Amino acid sequence: RGHEGVGGGASVRGRGSGLPRAESQAEGKSSGLEGGKPGADDPINLERRVGLLSGVALIVGTMIGSGIFVSPKGLLERTGSVGLSLVVWAACGGLSLLGALSYAELGTLVDASGGEYAYFLQGFAPGEKRRLWWGPIPSFLFAWVSLFLLKPSSLAIICLTCSEYFVRIFNAGSSINCLPPDLAIKLFAAFVIILITFINSYSVNLATRVQNVFTAAKLVAILIIVVGGMVKLGQGNTQYLATGFQGSTKSFGDIATAFYSGLWAYDGWNNLNYVTEELKKPYTNLPRAIIIGLPLVTICYLLVNISYLAVMSQDELLASETVAVTFGNRVLGWAAFLMPLAVTLSTFGAANGTAFTSGRLCFVAAREGHMVDVLSYVHAKKLTPSPALLFNAAIALIMVIPSDIGSLIDFFSFTAWIFYGGAMAALIIMRFTMKDAPRPYKVPIAIPVLVLIISVYLVVGPIIDSPKIEYLYASLFIIAGLFFYFPFVYMKKSIPGMGHMTTILQLLLQVVPTDVMPD
Ligand code: ARG
Repeated sequence: RGHEGVGGGASVRGRGSGLPRAESQAEGKSSGLEGGKPGADDPINLERRVGLLSGVALIVGTMIGSGIFVSPKGLLERTGSVGLSLVVWAACGGLSLLGALSYAELGTLVDASGGEYAYFLQGFAPGEKRRLWWGPIPSFLFAWVSLFLLKPSSLAIICLTCSEYFVRIFNAGSSINCLPPDLAIKLFAAFVIILITFINSYSVNLATRVQNVFTAAKLVAILIIVVGGMVKLGQGNTQYLATGFQGSTKSFGDIATAFYSGLWAYDGWNNLNYVTEELKKPYTNLPRAIIIGLPLVTICYLLVNISYLAVMSQDELLASETVAVTFGNRVLGWAAFLMPLAVTLSTFGAANGTAFTSGRLCFVAAREGHMVDVLSYVHAKKLTPSPALLFNAAIALIMVIPSDIGSLIDFFSFTAWIFYGGAMAALIIMRFTMKDAPRPYKVPIAIPVLVLIISVYLVVGPIIDSPKIEYLYASLFIIAGLFFYFPFVYMKKSIPGMGHMTTILQLLLQVVPTDVMPD
């Protein structure tokens, strides 16, 4: 039942992503799928199983993860004042909303899954240009950085936070801040990664259900914080908020890095764009989910921050390693354990959403020939992209090993915003190259232009203001992708032994190549 013509990931088959349907169907039929299926005539592919509610949960449930419970500290430290920090929180929400609205246009114009990956292909290498040497480079580099660095590192960060807070459930309320050894935290994080990968490989419906339940749970947690804070404010605890803009920073670089902390908390706003091929009625549901999800999260974040500051002063917030837990200990009394529990559930859900969508990105990139073929296969019966999910988990497990989460986050936002800016550029270009293509949802052009300008500032600002070696590493890592692009993708060299490897993996994982995506 082997898949013919496994060339170690070198074949550019071009099914799906961005190709007009007729052309992609024709290619799909002639591209050596014979023998890949287990007998049945039904086309094998991921199915449209994500509805509006699950779509909103995929956005909201990935955005609300660890950030809102952990980042307020970093943001306050960098902005220097309560007032400015709230302004930055609101601005981050506004920027994410503008970005997401632009993605609503992108996602309904280019109907392939894979987010930025698909938009770069279509925007920077439309039609024939895709076959030129430079055409697919932006997409490839995006997949390279995302799959080897961004996605697994965000999964690792979220799971580490999940694990850390899980432990805190058991000593909530006590003033002794005793944490178990690092090793235990890491082992539990690894367990979470494996559990989530299992859920996602087992069934798409199970994964979306997990996402829905955990999203609801985290919204309840946020409600608890907000109600607690409002009660305190009602009792007249407004003195901390009243310090206003006292002490605000004047450094541009500080503000940009403050944005990095905030934007991490909002990151995930583009998540649904990775799974458009699995979304029911994508043309209406994608914009709708974005328009419901983004304002919801922004309002939650602002209210939660105000609640924190109703309970603790700026200095206390800065001194607290775990803002939400300090909040719980002060306000919730015997129920203080609810806060670490909330963070555990929240991060678990965010990790689930992250794994779900990263798996799809890997799947799409492999389908295009930018990763080894086997990563584009799906389980023959469960129709889940299990090889891609396993790959993502394997790298995330490696990333759990080093410890410094803060620097990982700065590094994350820096690299991520290079690509968000790129997607805005692709949108603007497609306004010219695909003038007459139907756009079920269209944003005013000023929006992507503004987001593009801000993303340039976010990427360049910190480099000029306080150059850090990490930014150089990040840039070098992006460029290093070219060493793989030319031999394995452009020149189609096969990786020795990959054919055998693919067959073995196919048998072990019971996965098969997919057919064309049904409309
Ligand atoms: N916003 C999330 C948090 O605060 C992190 C999301 C990471 N990004 C992603 N695409 N999964 O924990």
